[in-house]
Formats: sequence, structure tokens, C-alpha cells
Amino acid sequence: MARKKVTIVGAGNVGATCAHWIASRELADVVLVDVVEGAAKGKALDLLESGPVMDFDISISGGSSYEDSANSDIVVITAGVPRKKKPDGTFPSRDELVKTNQEIVAECTRQCVKHSPNAILIIVSNPLDAMCHVALQESGFPAHRVIGQAGALDTARYKTFLALELGVSVRDVHGMVLGGHGDTMVPLPRHTSIAGIPVRELIPEDRLQAIIQRTRDGGGEIVKILGYSGYYAPAAGTIEMVEAILKDQKRVIPSAVYLNGEYGYEKLFIGVPAVLGSTGVEKVIVMELNDEEKAMLDHSAGAVRDVVNVLGY
Ligand code: 2OP
Repeated sequence: MARKKVTIVGAGNVGATCAHWIASRELADVVLVDVVEGAAKGKALDLLESGPVMDFDISISGGSSYEDSANSDIVVITAGVPRKKKPDGTFPSRDELVKTNQEIVAECTRQCVKHSPNAILIIVSNPLDAMCHVALQESGFPAHRVIGQAGALDTARYKTFLALELGVSVRDVHGMVLGGHGDTMVPLPRHTSIAGIPVRELIPEDRLQAIIQRTRDGGGEIVKILGYSGYYAPAAGTIEMVEAILKDQKRVIPSAVYLNGEYGYEKLFIGVPAVLGSTGVEKVIVMELNDEEKAMLDHSAGAVRDVVNVLGY
């Protein structure tokens, strides 16, 4: 079997952590690409040198040229300006990043598809759902090969907070977060269980609502504490998707996928449960939502649409 290859564009915290976890699980050979040549080359070499101790054996290289990325199975785009404290002490919202990151993601996408015309693109740059539109537009790829990472991360945060609340293993927490990757995201308590026990039997409503709100604010919570965006959990969400695709696992992972009528949305990327396998998005699962859940998803879709409109496509 030919070795798999994953290119990660952006050797910042998220990109480098993705490389780290791909290496530690020996999922694929890794190429890190960054406009800052030294960051990509240096981190790749540093990570490679950890192989003899950490017991992984894959090829890891890095640089500013896209040539080394040729024929990747998956390209993960993390490049972009992150949410960093502004000079006035406030933090930009994800949406404020839209125009700057549109240019960056567009250029990265064009370069990647030139060298890897058959790759599956996983977009991580923010504002996430809008950047998926940029990647779809610039790549010309079929929509099933352009997928946004958001639900995997938001769901991981949701499960973490539930496990902390109950003092149970995160392994026994099941649930999902849909919608756009922003303050309007839609955790689904009606579909959340602890080892199959509906969560509402175990957590009072006010506590559950507090956890839902903490999930919605999860990215911002890290930015406030750390001073910049988180990266362990965002990278973990990404690797969950990478692994599902490389191993054709048919995992059901909430992902930002391009909807063409599903859930009543046309030509819009938004987080819904998707079956991920070797061809990318193999199926969108359309859940039955009650009126309240659908209203929340509509609200989130509206917020995504507002940002997408800024792109000018
Ligand atoms: C987050 O939610 C940065 O969007 C990313 O942490």
C-alpha cells in the first residue's frame, strides 16, 4: 500500500500540533508549508528528530514551497491570522478576520490544488464556515472534497465540560454540536447521553445550559486565558477527521459541509453530521430536529450567511 501523505499549510500552533499528532499516530508522511520558511522547516526537522525516542517512523519535511506537497491525499489549511489581542486590549471576533484570511486561504488553496489535484481539503482557518466557501470556490473541487473542521472541536469541548461536571470518563459522553463555528453553534442536549443515559436525567437544566454556553464560548475562553487561540483541541478535531478519511473509517463527525438543500439550506457550508471516509464527505446525515433546534440552526446559518456575503462571491 502506498504511503499516505498529508500536507499542512500553516506551521503555527495548530498546524504544528496537527503534524505532531499525525506523526505520533503514524497516520501519514507530513509536509509542513508556511510562508515563513524557517518555521515550517525548523518545526518539521525538530519533530522528525523526536521519532527515535517517541517511536514513530514517518517522513516529515517543511518549507515555503508547495512543490514538496505534491500528490498529497489530504491538505489541511490552517493558515491565517489568528485571534490575537488587539492593541486596544480587545479581541477580534472570528468574523473580523474574514477579509484578511480570505486572501490567505485563497492563495494557499490555489497553490495546493495545483500540486495535489486529487486531495481532500480540510479547512481549519477562521472564520471557519466562510473559509470553506473560499476553498471550494478557489479549488474548483467537488464539494465532497472540501470539509471544514469545527464540529469535531466544538463537540470535544462540549464532551469535556460534561465529563467534568459529572466526574465521568469523557469516553462515556456522547453528543454533538452542529451549526457554524461561532457563538451561534448548536449543541444538541436532546441527543446527548452518558453511556446511553439521556443527559437531562443526570444534569439539571440550568447547569446544562451553562455548559452549552461555555461550549459556545469555548474558543474565546481559551483566547482570554492564553492571549491567543487554542491549538491542542483544534488540532485534535482535525486529526480525528484526517484519520477517518485516511483509514476510510466512515466515522460520523459533525463537520462543516456544503449543503445543497439538506436541512433546508442551499449552497451553504455549515456543521452537520457527516460520514467521513476515503472519498471525503460520503454522506450528510439529516437528523430530525424539533422546532427549537431547527430555529437555533437557522439562526446559526443566518450568521454564517452574513459572513459569507462579505466574501463577495
Ligand atoms: C477555537 O475555537 C480558534 O476557532 C478556534 O479555538
